[in-house]
Amino acid sequence: MDLITAQSTATPVTEAAPLKAAVILAGNREGRFAPVIADWFLAHADGHPAIETELIDVAGLDLPTALSYRPGPGTREVVADVGARPARADAFVVVTPEYNHSCPAPLKNLIDWYRAEWQAQPVSFVSYGGVSGGLRAVEHLRQVFAELHAVSIRDTVSFHNAGAQFDDEGTHRDPAGADAAAKSLLDQLVWWGRALRAARKAHSYAG
Ligand SMILES: Cc1cc2nc3c(=O)[nH]c(=O)nc-3n(C[C@H](O)[C@H](O)[C@H](O)COP(=O)(O)O)c2cc1C
Repeated sequence: MDLITAQSTATPVTEAAPLKAAVILAGNREGRFAPVIADWFLAHADGHPAIETELIDVAGLDLPTALSYRPGPGTREVVADVGARPARADAFVVVTPEYNHSCPAPLKNLIDWYRAEWQAQPVSFVSYGGVSGGLRAVEHLRQVFAELHAVSIRDTVSFHNAGAQFDDEGTHRDPAGADAAAKSLLDQLVWWGRALRAARKAHSYAG
């Protein structure tokens, strides 16, 4: 059981269970660069002692693009099946490129199909793109997730002109800065993930 003790001095925090972080791969473009970024991030996350990851790749989801409050037979099962994946997560990491100053449509579709699944959950961002490094997509997503009562994590990892930063084997050419950013993101995600997991267990959310 989580024990989070609020004290003004050093705070003992004991958590038995690792944090279940769902890593959401946001784009399904043919020939996408996404797997390079995802593999890079997963290698960091899987090396973190407090985290277990599950990949949710939008390219593998059969969610309809037409939303429905009352999905019919067939769609209902797909929506329930896909929704079980965010529902079992304690935290989210969205790996997103930037398309036209925002996030890819399949990610927004995934977000819009669900509500309670995001509520009182921490969401962090690994972004990439051209000159922007995907940061405008991230700022849009912060607004979207706020509407869903999720908590967005401050520190991000962002890769501008992402293709040039990795070699043909997907190895980062100059990894020190990105490695440090990944560590901050993961440490903050674990902090919020543990705090919110304990809070959700102790109190039903007021949303
Ligand atoms: C439709 C489209 C729109 C894009 N818009 C932007 C943009 O607004 N800002 C930016 O920095 N890069 C932009 N890019 C560049 C992508 O972010 C970059 O190519 C990224 O690697 C795409 O991710 P993917 O390969 O996983 O699909 C755009 C690319 C596409 C295909």
